[in-house]
Amino acid sequence: MRYLVTGGAGFIGSAFVRLTLDTVDAAEVLALDALTYAGNLENLAAAAGRPNYRFERVDIRDGAAVRAGFERFRPDVVVHFAAESHVDRSILSPEEAMATNFMGTGVLLEAAREFRPRRFMHISTDEVYGSIEPPAEADESYPLIASSPYSASKAGADLLALAYYATFGLPVIVTRASNNYGPYQFPEKLIPLMISNAFDGKPLPIYGDGRQVRDWLFVDDHCRAIHAAIDRGRAGQIYNVGGNCALPNLEVVKRLLRAAGKPESLMTAVADRPGHDRRYALSSAKIEAETGWKPQVDFDDGLAVTVAWYRNNRAWIDRVRSGEYRSYYEKNYGNR
Ligand code: NAD
Ligand code: TYD
Repeated sequence: MRYLVTGGAGFIGSAFVRLTLDTVDAAEVLALDALTYAGNLENLAAAAGRPNYRFERVDIRDGAAVRAGFERFRPDVVVHFAAESHVDRSILSPEEAMATNFMGTGVLLEAAREFRPRRFMHISTDEVYGSIEPPAEADESYPLIASSPYSASKAGADLLALAYYATFGLPVIVTRASNNYGPYQFPEKLIPLMISNAFDGKPLPIYGDGRQVRDWLFVDDHCRAIHAAIDRGRAGQIYNVGGNCALPNLEVVKRLLRAAGKPESLMTAVADRPGHDRRYALSSAKIEAETGWKPQVDFDDGLAVTVAWYRNNRAWIDRVRSGEYRSYYEKNYGNR
């Protein structure tokens, strides 16, 4: 099976590439990525040199480059991760999120309409449902009430992808996962930022009262859910993918400080994020019933793995923060 993976040099995309090469027989993988601040090839070092893997530097907003990638590779499955994935950045520069998340998805859908893969996996987020009052959980028919430019651009892209199923019969599946964590996550999201700051002895910025609730999913569990949906999901459907682990931010940060052996006094209250969603909560009953998938990694175990990875890869944190990988790639390979 030939997998074209957009955003393959990012956090979840690179985990998906590694898992696919390690666990799927006769898989061939083409990773496409623009290598923005969030993507770097060290995340894919384990794949480099394998005969059934290649990388191309492509911006998904570039229709001609995307089409050429499809024409050369002729994918059976497209797994579309590429996105501007951080809420805070989307508040600072909404246009980037709109252009990549919505228009870039449209460019890929157009190429897929021409080359007809067997599956087009559109990887989305629980944030499209917006903040959910307890004790409710969103199932796949819950209304879309996105609050940030990030979540609104993802919600728009979800609708566009589903429209290509309805209108053109493209076999699209949309997955909506909760907050991922694990190795190789850029140190701007809650867990990797807090771990990195704790190791540097820097303050840990807690937005507002820190009682916002997120549902945490280990990245490999997410990738296994995507494979389950590729293999056993139905075209035209949406599948929620939750970690069954809803926790307030303060609790998450306290647990990671314990795992890192650092003091709680590093936690510092800062101004709240504008439009900050209070609570995300998902029901994953549909993917569990239809595919047999379930999250396997307990949060404290996953957190221990994650903290250990960041402890052992401090140089990676410095390099991704400084953009060193991107300049190395540009110097040695040019813009390709
Ligand atoms: P990430 O920011 O780590 O990686 C995004 C990747 O996309 C990077 O490698 C980047 O270089 C690439 N990219 C960005 N713009 C591009 C463009 N125009 N053309 C080509 N490549 C481009 O993000 P992530 O956390 O790995 O998220 C991957 C996907 O999963 C996103 O679609 C996100 O919405 C979704 N998702 C993420 C989470 C989470 O908790 N991180 C949860 C649910 C869903
Ligand atoms: P984040 O990792 O940015 O993911 P998302 O906003 O997509 O859920 O944030 C997770 C939660 O942590 C969210 O409630 C915002 C909060 N947060 C902080 O309190 N401080 C921080 O520095 C960051 C990045 C997030």
